[in-house]
Amino acid sequence: MEEKVKKTFYVTTPIYYVNDVPHIGHAYTTIIADALARYQRLTGKKVFFLTGTDEHGQKIEKTAAEKGLSPQQLADQVVVRFKDLWQKLNISYDYFIRTTEKFHVEGVQKIFKKLLDQGDIYKGSYQGWYCVSEENFLSEDVSLEPDGYKICPECGRKAVLLQEESYFFRLSAYQQALLDFYEAHPRFVRPPGRMNEVISFVRQGLKDLSITRTSVKWGIPVPDDPKHTIYVWFDALHNYVTAIGYDWNPELFASFWPADIHLIGKDILRFHAIFWPAFLMAAGFDLPATVYSHGWWLKDEAKMSKSRGNVLDPHFIIDKAGADALRYFLLREIPIGLDGSFSHQGFVHRINSDLANDLGNLVQRTLTMAVNYFEGQLPALAEENEADRELAKHWTETKNKVYDLYDDQALNRALEEIWFFLNVVNKYLADNEPWKLANQPENRARLARVLYQALCSIRGASYLLYPVMPETSVKIWELMGEKRKPAGLLTSDLDFYDYQPGGKISRTKAIFPRIDLNEFISETNKSGVVAQPAPETGAKEKKMDYITYEEFKKMDLKVAKVIAAERVEGTKKLLKLQIDLGSEQRQIIAGVAETYSPEDLLNKEFIVIANLQPAVIRGIESQGMLLAAEVEGLAIIPFFNREIPPGTRVK
Ligand code: MSP
Repeated sequence: MEEKVKKTFYVTTPIYYVNDVPHIGHAYTTIIADALARYQRLTGKKVFFLTGTDEHGQKIEKTAAEKGLSPQQLADQVVVRFKDLWQKLNISYDYFIRTTEKFHVEGVQKIFKKLLDQGDIYKGSYQGWYCVSEENFLSEDVSLEPDGYKICPECGRKAVLLQEESYFFRLSAYQQALLDFYEAHPRFVRPPGRMNEVISFVRQGLKDLSITRTSVKWGIPVPDDPKHTIYVWFDALHNYVTAIGYDWNPELFASFWPADIHLIGKDILRFHAIFWPAFLMAAGFDLPATVYSHGWWLKDEAKMSKSRGNVLDPHFIIDKAGADALRYFLLREIPIGLDGSFSHQGFVHRINSDLANDLGNLVQRTLTMAVNYFEGQLPALAEENEADRELAKHWTETKNKVYDLYDDQALNRALEEIWFFLNVVNKYLADNEPWKLANQPENRARLARVLYQALCSIRGASYLLYPVMPETSVKIWELMGEKRKPAGLLTSDLDFYDYQPGGKISRTKAIFPRIDLNEFISETNKSGVVAQPAPETGAKEKKMDYITYEEFKKMDLKVAKVIAAERVEGTKKLLKLQIDLGSEQRQIIAGVAETYSPEDLLNKEFIVIANLQPAVIRGIESQGMLLAAEVEGLAIIPFFNREIPPGTRVK
């Protein structure tokens, strides 16, 4: 049977709350979506890429009041900030929806009314603990604090007890239908671990969902009962259907719905993987193919967020390193799904090593040779030899792998493959030594061939990079004298040997200048964004006191997991930690209490030296030592960016 190939691709980001200006976390989701949209356009699909802002609700009402603005004024101001950043990051969205737009408001009301008329929505009364910041009633298993309040587990703020007349969505009626759907579509939620989380949550039983508020004025009024406004999540989720024509352009709607992929952060998974499909089932819409839930960008192990005051300003990073550098770093550093820790060292290292060295140098050297040896216009080429064929073969394999990886949203793996290929090209040049051929007049044609092979490789690699680094890709093609644009060529039409410089090859400066770490950190500090101090650099001048590998091997470095933690009484600095080392449990005394509370460290993993002679500190035995950096007198523990079995050797 002939497989039906879908000719459209509909990708969405969450719509962002307008109480916050955009930060790296928001940029991350949007960059992933942009890379997927750009790739799918290259495959020839008609793409609709939607992003926008979530403008209703108590949170916005409250922030606006604090700033002395109306909610609409606040939204209008913050929207400009989002649009600016997206422009600076070359985000190629097709539509930017604002939930205050008329067509959206009317669409949501129409769906609400339909569900009310058919009995999926009913009127009742609700009492519960409500978190204003998260716009969410707390789940009932959150227990009361000694002072009689409940604390929101998401944001740590006090919740308020609310009782109100409310309309409910009959979520409980969809429990089995949802479970059946998950079973039939195991890739509905990605990565797979998160699908399991959702299934086990739904299996525990679903309660009906309160979907209106009388306490909130800034929201979409319930049709025919305007003292109620529609709960901001019911409103917001429907942006995915109103934006592409539900209720105003049936043709557009039919060509793009259901969505191919909703990209979201892991904190909003339940809304997208449970409530949203249930709403859609009730309204009789098809369900989206995939909800892809990515991890968080952390700063110093905490989620970056405005309320924690630890956000990094993307503008600063773009101004310093360029939009493509930030896009590359965020997509290369972690697979979608895991958390990533943004460190200045990590960022600068990636830019200098991958972009300045591996890619930038290769391009600069090759173009310079083409200009120096042939004035930018290659003459007749020698026949292909075995090494040339190998390079072309490697290219084809890379291209096929990268297409598959992009199709599978494995962006960091795709970038890894492209870099692997760049290293092959660098090696090809090292092996074929064009700089030597340049001194051998009899080898002009061979020299031209070697440079042509390298140029074809660079052209091909930068085409593959286009979804992630569009500016760089276009720039490299221009420098190569390639008259076409990467976006003008379909993936199926890309051919290694199809490089025809219609123009002249140009000499170029470094396309990614190296960044100086110390300068970067001090400028970050000046810009008011949290940064870590620069490492000691004076060490280079000192004579190294080397140890041998044998000596290093004597250290038993292991991954330890904290299973209990408490302060050592009478001290400011010390914590007593019980740690799991896989095969045994130990107790260590660590001088980290000025940086971490016992709760901070519970269940955390770090590296300890397990065979350090035990010591007695303040009368308590310490059976090992954890590794930490000392920064202005504070101990900073290096944590892992994924879970590792306790006891794993570190070498
Ligand atoms: N308005 C809702 C979404 C409604 S979608 C129908 C919302 N908005 S938000 O502005 O708070 O967050 C939007 C997205 O940004 C979420 O997916 C969230 O996970 C993501 N991020 C916010 N901070 C983040 C990090 N520090 N790291 C990565 N992504 C994070 O939720």
